[in-house]
Amino acid sequence: MGKKVTKAIFPVAGMGTRFLPATKSVPKEIMTLVDRPLVQYAIDEARAAGIKEFIFVTSRGKGALEDYFDHAPQLEHLLRKKGKDQLLETLQNTNMESGAIAYIRQHKALGLGHAVWCARRLIANEPFAVMLPDDVIAAETPCLQQMVEAHAETGGNMVAAMEVEPEKASSYGMLDIEEDMGQMVKVKGMVEKPKADESPSNLAVIGRYILEPSVLRNLNQIKSGSGGEIQLTDAIARDIEQNGNVYGYRFKGQRFDCGSKSGFLQATVAFGLAREDLRDDLHSYLHSLMQVDKAAQ
Ligand code: G1P
Repeated sequence: MGKKVTKAIFPVAGMGTRFLPATKSVPKEIMTLVDRPLVQYAIDEARAAGIKEFIFVTSRGKGALEDYFDHAPQLEHLLRKKGKDQLLETLQNTNMESGAIAYIRQHKALGLGHAVWCARRLIANEPFAVMLPDDVIAAETPCLQQMVEAHAETGGNMVAAMEVEPEKASSYGMLDIEEDMGQMVKVKGMVEKPKADESPSNLAVIGRYILEPSVLRNLNQIKSGSGGEIQLTDAIARDIEQNGNVYGYRFKGQRFDCGSKSGFLQATVAFGLAREDLRDDLHSYLHSLMQVDKAAQ
């Protein structure tokens, strides 16, 4: 029922002030979990879901991001000459097909909705994905792929959803549920960052979306919302009123909030433990830390 999703927008214009001083010269999206930049996790997830066109909404100071996606012929040559085949393969897996990536500048920090709207001319009359690289999701079947499969059945707008502690509602877009079908919910309203006691549910939006082009048209019209910014949540909520076709999808997987230092550290440990070459060392180190903790009690 849903049309194929082949384009994804990656809003990466944020200043990353929570990670200062690092983000003074390094875009947040280039910061690494173990040895891969955050943005590489998002790209790999998008590719697994069948995305062919990658649209980055950037801002001043994000040049390193564009360089990262350039081919590196000298480096490839060197690794080939030295017979470092595995590293060569790792490097080549980051190569993108020429013309598959587009960069659009968001000239003013007017919010997530505005960032997505900046990419409107690159989206035709077709559904598209939005991925927030801060939300890293470890999953057997990558999150966006799960959603693309579900969307093929439902069509409409779909947002990734996850239950959060009630007091955390003010950090998320929150869903007002019309019907709970288990894996999926039909949504009758959405509120961006409500106060804890005003949230319509505990089901939060996580940074993966499949959206109808009508949401871009809504972005033309909505006024600034929570935090004085143009909110994507408000533009999707408007589509509920007009077309009544918004679903929340409870993905299978573990989400890390890499926009926060604590989440970033947790992801680093989790992805480190998932790596065969690091697991044993890291595990015994963490184990020894726990022993120290116990001894201190
Ligand atoms: C954004 C969205 C919010 C969503 C969140 C998920 O907020 O505006 O609706 O719940 O991402 O991570 P931000 O974290 O950019 O403030």
